Amino acid sequence: MPEQEIKGSTRLCGLIGDPVRHTFSPQIHNTLADLTGQDLVYTAFPVENPEGLDAAVRGAFELGILGMNVTVPYKQDVMKSLVGIDPAAERIGAVNTLVRTDNGYKGYNTDYVGLRRALEDKGISLKGKNVVLVGAGGAARSAAILCAEEGAACLAILNRTVEKAQSLCDAVAAHYDKIKLLSFDLQKAGSLPLDSYIVIQCTNVGLYPKVQETPVSDPAFIRKAEAVYDLIYTPEETRFMKLCKEHGIPAWNGMDMLLWQGVSSFELWTGAQVTAAQAEIVKKKLRKVLKERQ
Ligand code: ATR
Repeated sequence: MPEQEIKGSTRLCGLIGDPVRHTFSPQIHNTLADLTGQDLVYTAFPVENPEGLDAAVRGAFELGILGMNVTVPYKQDVMKSLVGIDPAAERIGAVNTLVRTDNGYKGYNTDYVGLRRALEDKGISLKGKNVVLVGAGGAARSAAILCAEEGAACLAILNRTVEKAQSLCDAVAAHYDKIKLLSFDLQKAGSLPLDSYIVIQCTNVGLYPKVQETPVSDPAFIRKAEAVYDLIYTPEETRFMKLCKEHGIPAWNGMDMLLWQGVSSFELWTGAQVTAAQAEIVKKKLRKVLKERQ
């Protein structure tokens, strides 16, 4: 429960998706509201009927809801119901944050911003680097656009289904002409023709409860990694991260991306500037609720 009193002036933000029961976003935003003194509460709204999505977004606007997060399966479909879309979100082709304007909501992608801030936090710069994405689904799409935006020299997308890796390469190439792009079969990761790279793990392989799984285990691939960022945050250390650490390679989980995507949405809605100390408090809270959940 938020510590602050809910009053007539309290603004509402929320999450739409299906399912939404297991989300950590209420913990992030209600803690941020308490810490920053914003008169705001956040809750989750399951939208079970996909045909009701447009009505849900319009209804939210008419009810004065300040901002929304959007999750699976609506991150693409919601774009039809918006009055504007941020250019990065447009390139990614997915929106996870709706920000109120005078005549409707504008869409942003703070998954992308969250990953950028998480990498910055770890001192990882993508500029001029080789980057390997493991996976080519929705999460990989935000990461791929980030790599291009940040000026990575080469992006190799490794996926079990190579055709999907190639179509993500094509989607990046449609907007960016400087980055070298390569699609590659994940099963052959060990023979990837690059000497060193930063790895961003974007599949759901190894996610709780299937913690013994790893998308790749070939030492020939792992040895060449400079640093590894795994988007999974349950468990705290994936099998893939463990294998990397055994080779002396620094590896982090996706907790900071989760944190920073939330912080970025909150800042867009409220105009507040969340301090590093406040973000650290939210992170502690997230760690606690993640542990309780497992
Ligand atoms: P998300 O939105 O989390 O990215 P997604 O769009 O369904 O989810 O993408 C899941 C990713 O995990 C894909 O890259 C998928 O590979 P395929 O495109 O070949 O399906 C990858 N993935 C899922 N299960 C996998 C497995 N057992 N081995 C390797 N890759 C797997």
